[in-house]
Amino acid sequence: MMPGIKLGLGLVGAVGATLLGIAMISKFQLPPLDVVQRGYRGTAMQVNYNEKQLATYLAENKVPASLPAVPAAGPKAAAVYKNVQVLGDLSVGQFTRLMVSLTNWVSPKQGCAYCHNTNNMAEDNLYTKIVSRRMIQMTQHINADWQPHVQQTGVTCYTCHRGNPVPNNIWFNDPGPRASGGVFMAAVGGSAGKNYASGSVGDASLPYDPFTPFLENDHSIRVQGEEALPGANRHSIKEAEWTFALMNYFGNSLGVNCTYCHNSRAFSDWSQSSPAKVVAWHGIRMTRDLNADYLKQLSNAWPVNRLGPTGDSPKLACATCHQGVYKPLYGVSMVKDFPELRQPGSEAGLRYLNASWTPATPMDPAKPAE
Ligand code: HEC
Ligand code: HEC
Ligand code: HEC
Ligand code: HEC
Repeated sequence: MMPGIKLGLGLVGAVGATLLGIAMISKFQLPPLDVVQRGYRGTAMQVNYNEKQLATYLAENKVPASLPAVPAAGPKAAAVYKNVQVLGDLSVGQFTRLMVSLTNWVSPKQGCAYCHNTNNMAEDNLYTKIVSRRMIQMTQHINADWQPHVQQTGVTCYTCHRGNPVPNNIWFNDPGPRASGGVFMAAVGGSAGKNYASGSVGDASLPYDPFTPFLENDHSIRVQGEEALPGANRHSIKEAEWTFALMNYFGNSLGVNCTYCHNSRAFSDWSQSSPAKVVAWHGIRMTRDLNADYLKQLSNAWPVNRLGPTGDSPKLACATCHQGVYKPLYGVSMVKDFPELRQPGSEAGLRYLNASWTPATPMDPAKPAE
C-alpha cells in the first residue's frame, strides 16, 4: 500500500477511535459514585448514584408549594356554576383553588385561557377543557384505585405535566424507519423493529417501540424457561430482545439498573427479587389501564397535530410520571393537600368522548378523517 494512503487511513482510524472514545466517555458515568446496597451481600444488588447527576435530578424534582386550603363550607360549585360535571361537590372556594392550581401545574404561561373561552367559562369549546375533565377523572382513578402502585404518595397533574401542557415523556406507536420510507431499511429487508438507535431504549440497538406490545397491549413479559432444557419454553430470542428493550426503558425511566428489581442470577424468580419488582408489576398493569381507558378513549378529542404518525392518541408510560427518578418527585406527596383528587370521579365526561368532535376555534386544527 502507498505510504500516503497508509498514513491517511491511520489518521482516519485515529480520529474515529478518538470520536468513539468521546462518545463512550459521555455515555459512561464518571466518579465519584455513591453505591447503595439493596440486596443480600454478594448478590451485587446495588444502585450506583453519580453525585453530579443526582444534583440535577434533585433540582428538577422540587415540589411547588400548595395553595393554602380553603373551607369546604358555603355553596357548592354544582349549584353556582353551569357546567360542572366532575367537581360539583367542592365549595366555590375549593373549586377556585383547584382551578388556579391546575393552571400552575399545566398551563402557567397560557393561563385560564388554555382551557377556557374566558368570556364564557361554562362553554366546552376547547379540546383542552374536554381532555382536562377526563384528566381530572384519571388522576382521581390513579389515586383511588391504584394504591398498590402509587401508595399514599399519589399523583397530581404536576407529576406528569411539570408546568407543560404536553408532558415531556409521552409516546406513540412507532412504525419505524422502514414504514416511514427509510431506503436503507427497506433495501436490507425487515428490521424486526430494531437496529436503529432510539432514545426510548437508551440508544441501544434494541426494538425501539417496546411500548405498543407491553404497555398498550398485554403481551407477556415472561421469557425465561423454567427448566434447563428448552423443550417447554416456546418463547423466542426475538421476544427476549423485546423484553430486554422494555427493561432498559424501565431502568432509564427510574434512574436505576436491573438489580434494583432483579437478582441478576435469576431474573424470573420473584422470591429472589426486590419488593420494587412487585410494585413495578402493578405499574405495568396501571399503565395499560390508563392508556386504554383514558388516553386512547380520548382519540376523538385530540386535534390532528397531537396525534402520532399512525394517527394514534398520545400515550403515557413509566417515564411520564417518574422522569428519571425511582419515585416521582422523590416520593413527596402533593395530593395530600388535594383530597378532591383522591375521590373516585363520576364518569360524566365520557359522553363527550363518544360524541363527534367539531373544531370550534382557530387553535384546533381539523379533526383527522376517520
Ligand atoms: C387545564 C385546564 C383548565 C385550566 C387551565 C382552567 N380550568 Fe377552569 N375548568 C376546567 C374544567 C375541566 C372544568 C370543568 C370541571 C367539571 O366539569 O367538573 C372547568 C370549569 C371551570 C368553571 C366553571 C364554569 C361553569 O359555569 O361551568 C370556572 C368558573 C372555572 N373553570 C374557572 C377557571 C379559572 C378562573 C381558571 C384560571 C385561574 C381556570 N378555570 C383554569 C379546566 C381548566
Ligand atoms: C399520569 C400522567 C398524567 C397526569 C397525572 C395528568 N396528565 Fe394531562 N396529559 C397526560 C398525557 C400523556 C397527555 C397527552 C399529551 C398531549 O396532549 O399530546 C396529557 C394531555 C393533557 C392536556 C392536553 C394538552 C394539549 O395541548 O394537548 C391537558 C389540558 C391536560 N393533560 C390536563 C391535565 C390536568 C388538568 C391534569 C390534572 C387534573 C392532568 N392533565 C393530569 C398525562 C397526564
Ligand atoms: C423497576 C423494576 C425493574 C427493572 C429496573 C428491571 N426489571 Fe426486568 N422485570 C420487572 C418486572 C415487574 C418483570 C415481570 C413483568 C410481568 O410479569 O409482567 C420483569 C421481567 C423481566 C424478565 C423476564 C423474566 C421471566 O419471568 O421470564 C427479564 C429477563 C428481565 N426482567 C430482565 C431485566 C433486565 C436485564 C433489566 C435491566 C436492563 C431489568 N429487567 C430491569 C421489573 C424490572
Ligand atoms: C401515574 C404515575 C406513575 C406511572 C405511570 C408509573 N409510576 Fe411507578 N410510581 C409512581 C408513584 C407515585 C410511586 C411512589 C409510591 C410510593 O411512595 O411508594 C411509584 C413507585 C414506583 C416504584 C417503587 C420504588 C421504590 O423503591 O419503592 C417502582 C419500582 C415503580 N414505581 C416502577 C414503575 C414502572 C416500571 C412503571 C411503568 C411500567 C411505573 N412505575 C409507572 C407513579 C407512577
